[in-house]
Amino acid sequence: MLKGHAEYENERLHVLLKQQNASTGTYLHVEEDHAVQDKQLLIIEEILRGISLECCKEKRIEEGYRLYLIYRKFVADNLAHLHEEETKILPELQQLYSDAELLQVEAPTYREMTPEEMVHMIQVLFPHMNIHDKRAFLSDILSLEPKKFEIVLKAIQPLITENEFIAIERSSR
Ligand SMILES: [Fe+2]
Repeated sequence: MLKGHAEYENERLHVLLKQQNASTGTYLHVEEDHAVQDKQLLIIEEILRGISLECCKEKRIEEGYRLYLIYRKFVADNLAHLHEEETKILPELQQLYSDAELLQVEAPTYREMTPEEMVHMIQVLFPHMNIHDKRAFLSDILSLEPKKFEIVLKAIQPLITENEFIAIERSSR
């Protein structure tokens, strides 16, 4: 998921900055981070595979500690990365483009996705979102794919509280 998200940021969002000749300093470091994250995830995967195949208990504990350290570093780096994106990339995009133009960034993605794929994505993301994020997320789908929205809203009803459902339904009218 993270890899797909990084590709989306590079190919759909940074490209908007490039089109407006924004300074490369805004996005180059963030793209380097994406490449580093890729490598970190490969190392984490390798350590996990090693642990699952390791028979010696002492070695497994040793590798578990190595996993703990590298995973903690990955989380820390990722938080700094998110901070840079939200304080540099996002304000720059908002300065160069209107909300309506930025909404169109999602258009090809939602056009290609089936309602079932949208529901799956929501099942993964919603437990980490507050009501405002959920509403913004669903309002994008409603504006871009109103027919799919109807199906999606019905299917995700068990994932949201009754109050959230009422608020989302109200804002979709
Ligand atoms: Fe990113």
